[in-house]
Amino acid sequence: MNVDTKVIMGDLVLRTPLLTGSGTFGYGNEYNTLVDYSKLGGIITKSISLEPRNGNPPPRICETRAGGIINSIGLANVGVDAFLNQKVEALPIGKTEVFISVVGDSVEDYTSVVEKLETIEDIAGYELNISCPNVKSGGLSLGGDKEAVAAITKAVRSMTHRFVSVKLTPHYAVIAPVAEAAVKAGADALTLTNTLVGMAIDAECRKSLLGNVTGGYSGPPLKPVSLAKVWQASQVVDIPIWASGGMVNGIDCIEFMLAGASALQLGSVLFADPTAPERILVEMTEYCERHNVERFSNLIGSLEIQ
Ligand SMILES: Cc1cc2nc3c(=O)[nH]c(=O)nc-3n(C[C@H](O)[C@H](O)[C@H](O)COP(=O)(O)O)c2cc1C
Repeated sequence: MNVDTKVIMGDLVLRTPLLTGSGTFGYGNEYNTLVDYSKLGGIITKSISLEPRNGNPPPRICETRAGGIINSIGLANVGVDAFLNQKVEALPIGKTEVFISVVGDSVEDYTSVVEKLETIEDIAGYELNISCPNVKSGGLSLGGDKEAVAAITKAVRSMTHRFVSVKLTPHYAVIAPVAEAAVKAGADALTLTNTLVGMAIDAECRKSLLGNVTGGYSGPPLKPVSLAKVWQASQVVDIPIWASGGMVNGIDCIEFMLAGASALQLGSVLFADPTAPERILVEMTEYCERHNVERFSNLIGSLEIQ
């Protein structure tokens, strides 16, 4: 059986539902020799801010005994001007869809960055990171507030025709109000979810494992949390959902599609296996062949409730 891997979201057509999660694929050019772009629907760059950010003190990343990793990169990035001057040229534009992740501390930060990014030709759109747990201002504090989510989304919507996905934190007990606010403000998609706030300690040394003490918890333990948010949001919004959280194999990805996701972001798995998209696409296709599913898109939201 020839399984159709493409997913369509309005004017946006992704060759496959597989995307790379922001911050796990550099600026989008470092993996050029490692990744087969024909297996990816698109890439999402690390989050770009108005000014350069040095990020948090090291150590910035650690593993946990429970599985998964905690990072406190703190959104280190070169800033939008240096991104435009130094990084854009090497983006895989034309090989796959390119989305630029944008972060800021205020509505004006987001609009100033997007205004500059609008000068790049042929990128597919933006992901608004309104949910990073690793910065003192902005990030999670903005993402925790549905008025701020709505204001940022609305302001960016008014200045671009490109695709805009709004990335939310998993730290909502109830996702519906903020998801609905983002939709009303003009989001084309929701990305669910960013990392959970986590912490790890080395008891022998009596030290925290991260310089910033807390960080963003990602990898397989995040998956059930993100899966629940994807499913809950899919019950209340009718725009596409991009899943992010703990996927390491094709079946993880299939589960997110059954729960309502239209696209799937691979994150921490890329550190262990940069070729994961290729393997995961094969695993997803094999599942579809076993279950007589002709198109990946037929899986979206097709979960049966027990
Ligand atoms: C080292 C690291 C850096 C990250 N940086 C960003 C970032 O700059 N912007 C963002 O929106 N998410 C960032 N994330 C979150 C990921 O994009 C993703 O949402 C999260 O890790 C959950 O997916 P995973 O469990 O598959 O890794 C980062 C994650 C990691 C592990």
